[in-house]
Amino acid sequence: MRDNVDKETVARAYARWAPVYDLVFGAVFERGRQAATQAAERIGGRILEVGVGTGISLPDYSRANRICGVDISEPMLLKAKERVAEFNLSNVEGLCVMDAEQLAFQDESFDVVVAQYVITTVPNPEAALDEFARVLKPGGEIVLVSRVGAEAGLRRALEKWFAPVAQKLGWRTEFSWQRYAGWADGTVGIRLAERRAMPPFGHFALIRFAKHDGSSAKQAHPPVIRTAV
Ligand SMILES: C[S@@+](CC[C@H](N)C(=O)[O-])C[C@H]1O[C@@H](n2cnc3c(N)ncnc32)[C@H](O)[C@@H]1O
Repeated sequence: MRDNVDKETVARAYARWAPVYDLVFGAVFERGRQAATQAAERIGGRILEVGVGTGISLPDYSRANRICGVDISEPMLLKAKERVAEFNLSNVEGLCVMDAEQLAFQDESFDVVVAQYVITTVPNPEAALDEFARVLKPGGEIVLVSRVGAEAGLRRALEKWFAPVAQKLGWRTEFSWQRYAGWADGTVGIRLAERRAMPPFGHFALIRFAKHDGSSAKQAHPPVIRTAV
C-alpha cells in the first residue's frame, strides 16, 4: 500500500536533521532503542540495522555481534561513521547508503533485522518488511520500534491534522496496527512474536516478527501483547 511519502523528501528531511538529530531525538527514543537492542541481542549473530541513522544505538550492541547499518541518508550515515570511529566499534562490518525497500543483500543473510523509528518513514512499508523477511535467516527475528497510530478519538484526529506537516519532516503520524498485523498474517513463514507499547505515551511499540525455522507451526506461539506503557 502506497501513500504520500516519497524517498527524495525523506532523504532531504534527514539531511537537515543530521546535525541536530541526536540532540532532538536522542533521549526521547532511548527506551525504545534499548528495548530493540536487547531483543536483537537475545538472538545475536549477524545483525542488520536498517535506517541506522546517526548510529546512535551502535555502541549498545555486544562486540560479539556483527552489525551492518544501512540508511537512505548519506549525511546521517556520515554521523554514524564518526561514531564508529569514536567508539572504535570494530564489530560494525559496514555502513552504506541503501533503500530499505531494495536491500542489496542475499536471501537469509542476517540473524536479526532491526529497524527503529524507520518503517513509517518509507514510502511502501510492506515492501520494506518483505525485504527484511527475505534477508532474514529462518529462526531469526525482525525487531521494530515503530509508531502505531490511534484507531479513534482525539489522538486519531490530531494525527490526521498533523500528517501533512509530519510528512515534510520525514515521517507519518497515521499508521494503524492493522498494517503491521496484516503484513504478518499475509506473509508466509512470518508470525507476530511481540507487541509492547513504548514511550512517549505508548504511541510507539516494540514489534517482533519471527521467521519460521521449519520446526513450529504459525499458531504454536501466541504473541506477547502489551498495549499500555
Ligand atoms: C527517525 S530516523 C531513525 C534513526 C535511528 N534508527 C534511530 O533510532 O534514531 C529514520 C531513519 O530512517 C532513514 N530512512 C528513511 N527512509 C529510508 C529508506 N527508504 N531506506 C533506508 N533508510 C531510510 C532516515 O534517513 C533516518 O535516518
